[in-house]
Amino acid sequence: MIKQNFLPELHFWYNKNKRDLPFRHTTDAYKIWLSEIILQQTRVEQGLPYYIKFLKLFPTVNDLATASEENVLKAWQGLGYYSRARNLHHTANTVVLEFEGVFPTKYEELIKLKGVGDYTASAIASFSSKEVVPVLDGNVYRFISRLIGIETPINTPKAVKEFKLVLNELIDHKKPDMFNQAIIEFGALHCTPKSPNCGSCPFCESCFAFAENRITDFPVKLKKKKPVERFLNFYLVEFNESIFITKREENNIWKNLYEFPFIESKEVFMQETVGDEFNDFLELESVQGPFKHLLSHQKIMAKLMVCKLNSISLIPDDWIEISKSKFDDYPVHRLMEKMVESIEL
Ligand code: ADE
Repeated sequence: MIKQNFLPELHFWYNKNKRDLPFRHTTDAYKIWLSEIILQQTRVEQGLPYYIKFLKLFPTVNDLATASEENVLKAWQGLGYYSRARNLHHTANTVVLEFEGVFPTKYEELIKLKGVGDYTASAIASFSSKEVVPVLDGNVYRFISRLIGIETPINTPKAVKEFKLVLNELIDHKKPDMFNQAIIEFGALHCTPKSPNCGSCPFCESCFAFAENRITDFPVKLKKKKPVERFLNFYLVEFNESIFITKREENNIWKNLYEFPFIESKEVFMQETVGDEFNDFLELESVQGPFKHLLSHQKIMAKLMVCKLNSISLIPDDWIEISKSKFDDYPVHRLMEKMVESIEL
């Protein structure tokens, strides 16, 4: 049974402990949307500089819509999950074309926008227009599952319904914006994954997990499938002051990002040779790596083969020759950044 004074306790805790975050000082739906998309799967400390950078580069939704996708990807570089950046750009255009540049503030409109799911629509609607819709993010799942003792795995569709039922009972109808910020913040700062501060918790008397001494059993998650292992051999080919890059065209996470040409090898890593495909025109100078890179469903092991070009006429059609000094203008994925950091380009 949750204590009667849940709301006053939560708000008291929040007012005493909240972080002073810039996106909490605005009701501008555009700014809130930007902050929430940037903070998905990203820690606040890491995301904050990007929020500030995006607002500087694209102060209005119109500025974001009229920018090129390449410039948006470049500004996003380092955050990962690049589909978020592509959806961001797409949605800015939708808002300009279908909403006359006025960012929607109602859940039912927001949820139709590309890249905006239940959490983001609820966050924007409650923070910008005080709509009474509860937010459910990882922090909230953890806090509520412990408090009530909900054992439904949080990565199943059933969980959303079950947790929403509880939150709809709890939410503050006068201050849904503050309630949502507070419940996220409580999960993020107090009811943390590994060492929650139960000793000074305002809710410990009514907390199921605390009473049962089972804090670390919650939230329950279904085990994810093992990530697929992939082995990629990238080629840094130098030719006078030029290097070569290719652009990802396939519809996957790295779509429209640039990278060095690569060959994927099966199971074992390729020996330290250039490989049959490029033997006729490349000469291996050094090998860097291996570089490990984890994505949500893939574990990538990469090597960087630094090569000299012997015959420019043999380079494949999709290789783009660029000046080394212009490399920083192109949006690249994090694995590329890691590889480039290991050499002097
Ligand atoms: N992460 C995502 N949204 C957040 C918010 N509004 N406050 C704190 N952390 C967040």
